Amino acid sequence: VGAGTGNYEPRDRAVVAVEPSDTMLDQRGGANAPAVRGVAEALPIRSGCFDVALAVLTVHHWIDPARGLAELARVAHRQVVVTWDPRVSRAHWLHRDYLPELAEFEASLSSLADVTGALDVQDVQVLGVPRRCRDGFLGAHWADPTPLLDPVARAATSGLSLLDPGVVEGAMAGLAADVADGTWARRNAALLTTETADLGYRLVVAGS
Ligand SMILES: C[S@@+](CC[C@H](N)C(=O)[O-])C[C@H]1O[C@@H](n2cnc3c(N)ncnc32)[C@H](O)[C@@H]1O
Repeated sequence: VGAGTGNYEPRDRAVVAVEPSDTMLDQRGGANAPAVRGVAEALPIRSGCFDVALAVLTVHHWIDPARGLAELARVAHRQVVVTWDPRVSRAHWLHRDYLPELAEFEASLSSLADVTGALDVQDVQVLGVPRRCRDGFLGAHWADPTPLLDPVARAATSGLSLLDPGVVEGAMAGLAADVADGTWARRNAALLTTETADLGYRLVVAGS
């Protein structure tokens, strides 16, 4: 649900994707699961007809997260949701040193507490981000900030694209200066020996 272009869909299961955006649907390749156009808040699916409902980094985009989460529980007796804990993510150098506005913005969105409050949670796992993560989500660049200096790479991260562009450009100019004169590397020297970082991403397993 909120499947986007389908990057995180399991390839070894029978999957039906739900996604409201034509732009996203158009980018789904032939190898992706079949998709239906729809929103989480009103899934076009009969009750109980799936084993698991999966929602990855999407709940914060929904107009009514509580209703969407109730819909996940209606269509599948197990639910798996990837979200984040803003109490952890705000300590990331990007939020702490360059974009406190991002921490504020994220705190206003639906995240871990809303998900655990709405579902019958069995387990919450830390979803660490590896040093050489090749994906383009916001936290993927924790060990090497240079991709964030590229406006095209930034546009692919919904967190940054939803902020005031002037604020983001100012912050990125500061980051570029700190990368160039070694300030960023000095301040984040501890990351040199970190293989997997906890940036707040959480995998919530719910239902039975
Ligand atoms: C950051 S993307 C994540 C896409 C995909 N789950 C992934 O992790 O690659 C968020 C997705 O949520 C979708 N979305 C926005 N509002 C939604 C809603 N009300 N119900 C379901 N999906 C929604 C967006 O169109 C977008 O594809």
